[in-house]
Amino acid sequence: LESPQDTNTKLLKICQVLDKEIDYYNWTGFYFKNGDKDELVLGPYVGAVTDHVIIPFGKGICGQVAVSGETFVVPDVNAQDNYLSCSIDTKAEIVVPIFKNGENIGQIDIDSHKIDPFTKEDEELLNWLCEEVAKIL
Ligand code: SME
Repeated sequence: LESPQDTNTKLLKICQVLDKEIDYYNWTGFYFKNGDKDELVLGPYVGAVTDHVIIPFGKGICGQVAVSGETFVVPDVNAQDNYLSCSIDTKAEIVVPIFKNGENIGQIDIDSHKIDPFTKEDEELLNWLCEEVAKIL
């Protein structure tokens, strides 16, 4: 059995590698369902400090993915009504859910300073990553 600390170290490492290797990934982090509550709590991340440590289900891009269980690609955050701004530098966002035993338990969230940077390849990479992450949770 892995301690939560080992898991968080691995999740942080994933964020660091993505942040380093992909230049248009400018904030990379994990959110997880907060126990039995209908809210997300911030996990390991790399990037600017965010006010959004707790996100109620349904709120923002992250909260919507917590409800829908579907990848949400936002080419232009300024065109979104239900969006929580972390940084004025953020232009685009992608959120991919993490499923464990069929349950939507969290997500990876990536912000970009570039407009419309995310391709099908990003979606495939992040989907694969979320499946791998689920195995260590
Ligand atoms: N933009 C997100 C909030 C999280 S920050 O990007 C880290 C949202 O709208 O849910």
